[in-house]
Amino acid sequence: MKVNKVIVPIAGLGTRMLPATKAIPKEMLPVVTKPIIQLIVEEVENAGFKEIIFITHSSKSSVENHFDNSFELEATLEKRVKRSLLKEIKSLSNLKVSIQSIRQGHAKGLGHAISCAKTIIKKESFAIVLPDMLIADKSKNNNLSKLKKEFEESGLSQILLGKIGNKELSNYGIAKVSKNKILRIFEKPKISKAPSNLFIVGRYIFTNNFINYISKEKNKVSNEIELTDAIQRFINDSNEILFSYLKGKFYDCGSKLGYLKAIVDYAIEDKTVSKEFKSYLKKIK
Ligand code: G1P
Repeated sequence: MKVNKVIVPIAGLGTRMLPATKAIPKEMLPVVTKPIIQLIVEEVENAGFKEIIFITHSSKSSVENHFDNSFELEATLEKRVKRSLLKEIKSLSNLKVSIQSIRQGHAKGLGHAISCAKTIIKKESFAIVLPDMLIADKSKNNNLSKLKKEFEESGLSQILLGKIGNKELSNYGIAKVSKNKILRIFEKPKISKAPSNLFIVGRYIFTNNFINYISKEKNKVSNEIELTDAIQRFINDSNEILFSYLKGKFYDCGSKLGYLKAIVDYAIEDKTVSKEFKSYLKKIK
C-alpha cells in the first residue's frame, strides 16, 4: 500500500518561544541558516514522499513564501555572481515534493488540524510530521523513510517512538506497547501514570480510515480535539498500529532548551563555522 501525502500542521502559535514568535512563525526560526520548516521539508523529501499539505494560519504566510520563487532575490544573486547561494535559493522553489496549504480556521487542537486535510487526502493513506520535533538525520534512509517502507510492506499504520527520561514524560504522548504493537497512548501523563519511557516523536503514518476516528468533541482535560484520542479510538476498534524506534538525536524545537541544542549541534556540523565554533565552545567550557 503506497503512501505519498504528508500532513504538516503549522497553525500553532508557538507561545513557548515568545516573544521571538510574536511576528515570526515558530517554524521560521533559524537553525544556523535554515529555518526549522526547511529542515522538516528536507526530511520529508529525503524519505521519498511526493506531496506536503501544510495546515496553516493567517500569520504563517512567510512559511509559504519560503518555498516560493523570489525573482528579485534570484536576480540580485545572479548579478552578484553568488552561484552557490543562488542554487540553494532556487532549489527551495524547485523541490521534489509539491506543497499545498489549507487553513485551519479555528485553533481547536492537533486532531482538528489533521482533519482539515480530509478533502485533500480523499481515499489515500497519509503521514503526519510534527514540525516542532527535529530529527538529526540528513540521509535518504532516514527514520521517516524506514517508517514509510514498513507501512508500504505491511499495510499497517506506523508510529515512531523515542526513548526519554522520566522528567520529560509529561511533555509528550507516552505509549504502552507489546512486541511491535502499540496498545495504548497516554497523552502527557504524570510520571506515576506513564506506562513506559517511549514517547511519540511526531512521525505517524495512517491507513485512510484513521481520519474518520478524529472526533468533533474536545478532550475534557485539554479542551482541544486531540490526535491522541483519535489514535486510541482507532486501536480500540481493532485497527493495528505498529511502531519503530527512533534512531539518532532529536530536538524539541518548541522548547527553549531543545532549540538551543539544535543550534549548537547543527553549527558544529556546519563546515563554514565548525572549527571556530568548536574552539569557542571549548573556551567557554
Ligand atoms: C503532540 C502530541 C504528542 C507528541 C508531541 C510530539 O503534542 O499530542 O503525543 O508526543 O506532539 O512533539 P504537542 O507538542 O502538540 O503538545
